[in-house]
Amino acid sequence: MVGLLQPRQMTSFCAIASVANCIPYSSSFSSNKPSFFKHQRKDPVVKFTCRAKNDDQRPETTTKNGENSPEKLDRRDVLLGLGGLYTTSLAVNPMAISKPALPDFKDCIEATQPNGTPINCCPPPLVDEVTDYCPCATTVNIRKAAQSFTVDSDYYKKYSKAIQKMKNLALSDPRNFLQQANVHCAYCDGGYTQQGHPNLLYEIHNSWLFFPWHRWFVYFFEKICQNLIDDDTFALPFWNWDAPAGMQIPPIYNSGVTSPLYDTLRNPKHLPPSVVNLEWFNDDATVEPEVQIKYNLAIMYRQMITQSKTQIDFFGNPIRDGDDVPKISASGTIEITPHNHMHSWTGTSVDPNNPINMGVFYSAARDPIFSAHHTNIDRLWTIWLNQLKGTNITDPDWLNAYFIFYNEEAKPVRVRIQDGLDITRLGYAYEEVPIPWLDASAKPKSRTKAKTLPSAPDPAQVFPTTLDKPINVIVKRPKKSGSGSSEEILVIEGVEYDKRSYVDFNVYINEDDVNACRPDNAEFLGSFSNLPHGHQMSVKTDRQFRISEVLEELGAQDYDRVLVTLVPKSNPVKINGIKIKFDP
Ligand code: C2O
Repeated sequence: MVGLLQPRQMTSFCAIASVANCIPYSSSFSSNKPSFFKHQRKDPVVKFTCRAKNDDQRPETTTKNGENSPEKLDRRDVLLGLGGLYTTSLAVNPMAISKPALPDFKDCIEATQPNGTPINCCPPPLVDEVTDYCPCATTVNIRKAAQSFTVDSDYYKKYSKAIQKMKNLALSDPRNFLQQANVHCAYCDGGYTQQGHPNLLYEIHNSWLFFPWHRWFVYFFEKICQNLIDDDTFALPFWNWDAPAGMQIPPIYNSGVTSPLYDTLRNPKHLPPSVVNLEWFNDDATVEPEVQIKYNLAIMYRQMITQSKTQIDFFGNPIRDGDDVPKISASGTIEITPHNHMHSWTGTSVDPNNPINMGVFYSAARDPIFSAHHTNIDRLWTIWLNQLKGTNITDPDWLNAYFIFYNEEAKPVRVRIQDGLDITRLGYAYEEVPIPWLDASAKPKSRTKAKTLPSAPDPAQVFPTTLDKPINVIVKRPKKSGSGSSEEILVIEGVEYDKRSYVDFNVYINEDDVNACRPDNAEFLGSFSNLPHGHQMSVKTDRQFRISEVLEELGAQDYDRVLVTLVPKSNPVKINGIKIKFDP
């Protein structure tokens, strides 16, 4: 393990990286030119800043928009690169005229707290010209599991010094700790509208923007830490809540009020030795820690494997130019659970109307543990790609979507999703720690398999309805005709709720006694959750579950109907229907 801790030197990597991999922002893209270029000359110079160690190795590249870079990169290479992307995605996206959904940075507007009170969480306004950023790290720092550090370690001293310095910066400095939290707030609580659509709010949750946006956020947060302690080998830790060793608030975040890594606004019931509940919703368990750990591992398996078979499952729904985000968005599996649930576990008091820092998006990043929560989310992305053989989206509307962050020098930079997909270029990797959930699949409750289902109404007799008590319905399975996928998806259609409210409900299949069903039972499909954020607005979304594998596990693959049970855990939501369809 020790060998892993040394940053790896990568001598010649950067010289190739930024040119070959950071395709200049294309000219067709410049018709989309963001409003922060408003004072710019007509023919903008696209400037890639490259923070290589050796200037001779990787000079700053300045290239005229649309032209070859000074490195004389063969234009064919660039086009081939683009062509590759576009060809693949045209196949998936016949509506290729679409464009990415982009945030409008011209004006950051007032956001709203869940109780409706407006909050100004706009980071300091952009004064400097925004530079296009192309990462090209020359070394790789290892992000380690937070539980491996003690509070008397040198690492802890460094880390807390960096956070203290961030907290001490003037509020006018966008690198200030609170301003960094504001960057998150503005991006998700309605601080920005969508470029070209002043009536549509922009937002980075509940869609395919979730993973990449948070990766870039944490990336610059880490760079700022490095800069403030003048140590570019510094790496943030990850909160390894997916493995037993990390299933508590790590000691470095819990060392008392004087520690810069401490936050008083956490659920007092969940301080160590309380074990995390990856699907918590105001339901403090009475189970023993070992049992909760077993549940957590099954939840991880379900979310990362059983329910994450495709890109849409894992990343969430596409969001494109002009989409009304709250209307069409749907989160990926991991964003819902454990991401949302770990926010509320950490930062929601027993009274869900009284959220505290982590429990609600506008204030979540005011808790220093936020970045460790998100490095772990980011690590799960790498596990899904590497261990679980998932693949990244190739749709240009994802690849070309961009965000603005402040870099370690407090300068605004524009980053595209496609330039953040290779974490080696970003200069970090994750320490390899055991992943015990890889073989923790849920098992059917012990009873006769595929027993006769109790009688229950047809969905058409029940929906639409308000989910204010448990609902049972018997849903017919579709008949498979012709070729095409035979993978069945259970769709909870049109889940409607106010975006500012906590929402949570559980979904079970072929379970006649939900009170006795546990997270490590295959009958428990998972949950739906919303963390309060944004302006008052009604959201209508579908929640889907893959059921073919589960039905097989339950020995019910030959039955022509299934029993579905919804159990509310929060404010009631409206549900419009339930059906089973084949995976398109
Ligand atoms: Cu943007 Cu974990 O939140």
